[in-house]
Amino acid sequence: MELNPTIGDLSSMDRMARFRDRLARSIRGIGLRQVRFVSGVVLFTYLISHFLNHALGNISMEALATGVYLHTMFWQFPPVGMVFYASILIHSGLGIWALYQRREFHWKAVEPLQLALGLSVPALVAAHIVGARLGQALFGHEKLYPQELYVFLVVSPYRAWLMSAVLTIAWVHGCIGLHFWLRMRAFYKRVAPFLLAIAVLIPTLALLGFYQAGRTVIADSDDPDWRINNLSQKQVGTPAQAQTLDAITDYFLIGYLGLIGFVLLARGARALNERRGGMIALSYGNGRTIRVPKGLSVLEASLRYNVPHASVCGGRARCSTCRIRVIGDCSGLPEPSQREAFVLSRVGTSDPSIRLACQLRPAADLSFFQLFTPHTVSADAHTSQPSRIGQERYLVSLFVDMRGSTQLAEKRLPFDTVFIVNRFLGAVSQAVIDNGGQPNQFVGDGMLALFGLAAAPRNACRQALKAAAAIAANVDELNQFLSHDLREPIRFGIGIHGGEVIVGDIGYRDHMVFTALGDAVNVAARLQDMTKTLACEAIVSEEVHITAALAADDLPQQEVAIRGRAEPMSVRTIANARTLSTIVDGQAVAAA
Ligand code: FES
Repeated sequence: MELNPTIGDLSSMDRMARFRDRLARSIRGIGLRQVRFVSGVVLFTYLISHFLNHALGNISMEALATGVYLHTMFWQFPPVGMVFYASILIHSGLGIWALYQRREFHWKAVEPLQLALGLSVPALVAAHIVGARLGQALFGHEKLYPQELYVFLVVSPYRAWLMSAVLTIAWVHGCIGLHFWLRMRAFYKRVAPFLLAIAVLIPTLALLGFYQAGRTVIADSDDPDWRINNLSQKQVGTPAQAQTLDAITDYFLIGYLGLIGFVLLARGARALNERRGGMIALSYGNGRTIRVPKGLSVLEASLRYNVPHASVCGGRARCSTCRIRVIGDCSGLPEPSQREAFVLSRVGTSDPSIRLACQLRPAADLSFFQLFTPHTVSADAHTSQPSRIGQERYLVSLFVDMRGSTQLAEKRLPFDTVFIVNRFLGAVSQAVIDNGGQPNQFVGDGMLALFGLAAAPRNACRQALKAAAAIAANVDELNQFLSHDLREPIRFGIGIHGGEVIVGDIGYRDHMVFTALGDAVNVAARLQDMTKTLACEAIVSEEVHITAALAADDLPQQEVAIRGRAEPMSVRTIANARTLSTIVDGQAVAAA
């Protein structure tokens, strides 16, 4: 039996552990919105399949029949069917829940429209589903395109318009939902024109196919043979069965509309109750206080009373830009939901006074500070400013800091100090740019550089590692150049970590800068800080080490405690950052 695992085994064990960790984190991050999105994607996929099927009507009735055979075979395959019907129930249920639960809408017109479109679909499509699907399940009807088109275009022509309307409504609803979800993704801007073309093309082809096939059915329906072959009792059922199906549709509509009415009444009752139940005061820490009914989230209260509040994702618990710091005792606050806790952990905070304004519904007076400037990252910033609103993406952050600059300043004229620090930052920036990164922020004698704005994660990690080596080489050169002026060579510390962050323009009016916010950035800064205590030039997180696909044993590994994180973090320490270039290049050669 082999007792010592090989390097390859260790690496795959690391990857497995990493994968399990990511999976656990992803599961912790699932909230109602994620469930609604996934069920919506299933329904949208069904719609695409249905539309493509309709589009075959542009070719021939035979092509349409083949299409419906494949479409039905896939969607009625039991596991797929179960997921599909569960998605219908979940998506509709969550839509009704949203109607009750949403008190304020962030993008004023689009969000209520999106909700109204979604809620109208079950009512508009009920007769079709009951007639086709329930007719098959209860009475064994075989209603395919010829039978349905005959009903829509010959028996009740108004239903052809109704079906066209419901298909368009469902499509627009799906497209808006996808737009909201994808708008924070980095790739969205690139692919949006293609998606728009597809979003227009598919329903257009589908409606044209529906029309073409309908014309064929209208023409054929005068033929007695066609009627015998396509309108038999086995296919379309008896008048009594049709009456039963109509009655089921009516009951469904009464129940559904009754449920919507009940929810609207419940909203009214809640509003009354909240007014009677008392008001609470929200103090923004800048002298502004508003009185709001209990039950609103802090973000909803801000929107209702026109207090600017950063909310890049529109209250969907995805961006964390609505974060507030509660002043005073936090023990009386409601516990964070699983989703809120997940988002807060992603930005690396376990401080109970930091909460998401879009999730926190205080039951008593509350004082707090907003952590982000509302003018720069408000939900509607994209409509008024050409600035880049927040996007979620994977980036690698590299923090570099010059050591001993305070002592340097003590012993020199200010001009000399500024000259040396600028030379240092110049050497560092050049190394970053040469390796595909972007110098992003300069803080005194330190700098944040970002990698991955135009590269895939693996490349971004490799670029950052090579940039660290180049920084060491450039600083060595600088030390030689300044050897007569410096009592001691310039030293530095580097921290590198990668992960999902929010990138966008931050600042105020004319002082906007493009930067990244998030856990990965904070951790990189902390790793840089830690190079002092661990007496090394650079510290690289295990995340970056694995993503860069370096060999498991090429750099010493250790666990370190990161401030604000409950779990220790695995990192690699590098005594001499210049060696990173050889390690990365060596790995690339080995891989080739
Ligand atoms: S608004 Fe995005 S998390 Fe609250």
